[in-house]
Amino acid sequence: MIQHKTDLKSTWFAACRVEDVVHNGGVCVQYGDNQIALFYFTRRNEWYATHNQCPHKKQMALSRGMIGTKNEEPKVACPFHKKTFSLITGECLSGDECSIKTYPVRVENNIVFINVGEEDKTAINF
Ligand code: FES
Repeated sequence: MIQHKTDLKSTWFAACRVEDVVHNGGVCVQYGDNQIALFYFTRRNEWYATHNQCPHKKQMALSRGMIGTKNEEPKVACPFHKKTFSLITGECLSGDECSIKTYPVRVENNIVFINVGEEDKTAINF
């Protein structure tokens, strides 16, 4: 189980049902004006959430990226230019300085919850 830091100003947002997310793939979830990419990594039985916007060319595309691992670290590859990001830390694993925000995820009674803060309701501006 991956542990993420949360703070008192964060809230658990009910994003969707478990069956709404494809196995070993992602979906895009709207939160306020923001888009969050939500992934279900079936082989690891783990859930991840990140910003949907790739910082490279600002494409809203990460939810359509392929997921996999690099040295056992779960990652997503942007479908545009294949830059990869850690699903745990958001760090770019392709050697670039950019990174993406990640969010804690939990599943309860077949509902997927994402931990978000008030600042996550607004669209991302890099
Ligand atoms: S837009 Fe994502 S890698 Fe270029």
